[in-house]
Amino acid sequence: MGIIVHEAQKSFHLYNGEISYILAVLPDGSMGQLYCGKRIHDREDYSYFLEGCIRSHSAVIEDDGTGYSLEHLRQEYPVYGSSDYRLGAVEILQGSGSRLVNFVYEGYTTEAGKRMLPGLPSAVAKEADAETLRLILRDPAALLKLELLYTIFEKENVIVRSARITNEGNEAVDVTRAMSLCLDLPDAEYDWIQFSGSWGRERFPRLHRLEQGICSVGSLRGNSSHQHNPFVILKRPHTDEMQGEALGISLIYSGNFLIQAEVDTYGVTRMTAGIHPEWFTWHLGKSASFQTPEALLTFSNKGLNGLSQTLHRFYRDYLIRSSWALRPRPVLINNWEATFFDFNEEKLLRIAKKAVECGVEMFVLDDGWFGGRRSDCAGLGDWTPARELLPDGIKGLSEKIEALGMRFGLWIEPEMVNPDSDLFRSHPDWILHIPGRRASLTRHQCVLDFSRPEVVEHIYRALSGVIRESRISYIKWDMNRSITECFSAALAPERQGEVFHRYILGVYSLYERLTQAFPDILFESCAGGGGRFDAGMLCYAPQAWCSDNTDAVERMKIQYGTSYGYPVSSIGSHVSAVPNDQVGRITPLATRAAVAYFGTFGYELDLNLLTEEELEEVRSCTAFMKEYRELIQFGDFYRLVSPFEGDEMAWMTVSEDGSRALVGHYRILNHANEPFTRLRLAGLKEDSCYEVSILSGDGKNEVSYGKHFGDELMHAGLVTSTVYSGKTGPYARPSGDFTSELYLLRSIDAYE
Ligand code: GLA
Repeated sequence: MGIIVHEAQKSFHLYNGEISYILAVLPDGSMGQLYCGKRIHDREDYSYFLEGCIRSHSAVIEDDGTGYSLEHLRQEYPVYGSSDYRLGAVEILQGSGSRLVNFVYEGYTTEAGKRMLPGLPSAVAKEADAETLRLILRDPAALLKLELLYTIFEKENVIVRSARITNEGNEAVDVTRAMSLCLDLPDAEYDWIQFSGSWGRERFPRLHRLEQGICSVGSLRGNSSHQHNPFVILKRPHTDEMQGEALGISLIYSGNFLIQAEVDTYGVTRMTAGIHPEWFTWHLGKSASFQTPEALLTFSNKGLNGLSQTLHRFYRDYLIRSSWALRPRPVLINNWEATFFDFNEEKLLRIAKKAVECGVEMFVLDDGWFGGRRSDCAGLGDWTPARELLPDGIKGLSEKIEALGMRFGLWIEPEMVNPDSDLFRSHPDWILHIPGRRASLTRHQCVLDFSRPEVVEHIYRALSGVIRESRISYIKWDMNRSITECFSAALAPERQGEVFHRYILGVYSLYERLTQAFPDILFESCAGGGGRFDAGMLCYAPQAWCSDNTDAVERMKIQYGTSYGYPVSSIGSHVSAVPNDQVGRITPLATRAAVAYFGTFGYELDLNLLTEEELEEVRSCTAFMKEYRELIQFGDFYRLVSPFEGDEMAWMTVSEDGSRALVGHYRILNHANEPFTRLRLAGLKEDSCYEVSILSGDGKNEVSYGKHFGDELMHAGLVTSTVYSGKTGPYARPSGDFTSELYLLRSIDAYE
């Protein structure tokens, strides 16, 4: 790993064992992009990659025969408006009214390691693990400085980038566009995959071929959103899960974002990612700086699974700051779908007692424990335990739960307030709203103005007070509405374009304070399910509630889609009751568990309502998860069969040393007289022999599938045809819809 600087050519080659990223100063002093992809040899001069030329109707920079057009050069941080007609990365409104900037290269620095960006979620790495390049550019006319930051990592095919703009003049300017990343690729032979959906069906992969024009996803909701995720993949058309090239771009940010690909007339693809420029301006006074969020770029030539595995490891090793990053997650029970708002201490303790008997390790009290919050109409913002429900408060309840032998977790929604609350009555101006205009409500609640430090301070005090006096091991931090009427009563008119970004900075500051004050607490983020499942949140909360949709069949798609960008250890997944609350479907408990294992795992139902037989299954599922959670949450995860393509789904996880693996195989709808099927596994050691067992989804009924070599299992595959079951096969597959089975693989020394 390293950064090679060719001083004479003014070019920079960032490389590790697998990837190269090469950039150079262009004739006009701006930065040009030469190459991004699989590692290539270093050479003194790669400028022939630039391919710039004058074409008919090009605007040229010099008209003396040496001219060139920025429109035809691939750039690192381009500007619209001066011979480049594509959308740029930066735009700054100056006192004159001009928005054009022209940053010219001045120099660079390098340093070992990677530092955090202050106040923003960002990767961090020790000196031996990464190297950082800082390019310094200036616009002498506008008196602005631009710093472009790049970090290359030793062990992962990842480059993280960000930009910083400083006003070195006396006059204030307004940054109206400042993307975190721009990458001009030399061709457009790519499939674009975005992860989109809505509440209850988050992050479904959507694929289409890039064409001339603009393709984009983004959010203007103030949170990264259920609708689109700040993560996009560009893959070569022939690339699939197991092979081929792909690029991943992830924004380490939780607010409004834009990721777009602009394919120009000549097939060049310009990828940009950053804060959405719509409703964004940043007023930059004398000597002030604006730091963009960080964006991550990853390259894989091992297919989409290879790309996902890099991200999974990278987030665990370099992004998640929590002490929980690499620790198996507790099996918990959450009372939300068990009781909704209808609970008291006695009822909660009854659920908890049953849960302890089933081996569950943590009890989580969800919404409704505070103020006048007996429904979603009131009480948000009043973080005082409701004594009529909990006579000894959260302190008392948490102690009682611990006395039962479980840890205790608590739900909070710090960023919100119901108009019917003491907080709102005493501070009506603390919400985001435009004075004199209607303030829209969602779920009867308003968004607190987290751009104001005093609001964040108030919430910090209220929540840390409850946490400090109680026995709290886990916090579920919810956010149940997006922002409307984005305006802060505390900011000057010229700063109103900052509110969306300042809001999320306020959220990060509260996360930072709470996670630092309570370093052992496991945080789970949530936004009406998975409405803020992004790399920014992961930095503080190592797991996220993936979706409010807990139906096993729907969850297959949601968790499968989420796994493209996020590690299994981050995917909050619970077994809930049937008929399922969101879709009314009845699925076997074993299948609900077999889906939820591939995440953090827990329960979201009243165990007192189960039969003795079902409770026995719950005990078995819990024991199974405890035994295999390390393998599941931290192994190499492979998507095998997509639930988006038929009535079958399969995924698996393999331990780092390849000695153990667990496969989850699911049948959604059953069909009569089906064709023969094989399930080809992945990630095993070809020459190792594995003892294979088949288990039902609840981890019971273990049956031997014999001993098989890794190559056999990967290239020939497991025989999964239903016709193979019954009399002749080793295992009688369950018949019917929504069934599941698990294959457990343990390598043995020799084939007997
Ligand atoms: C959101 C969450 C749920 C639950 C409710 C409580 O919808 O996603 O899990 O916590 O809020 O109001």
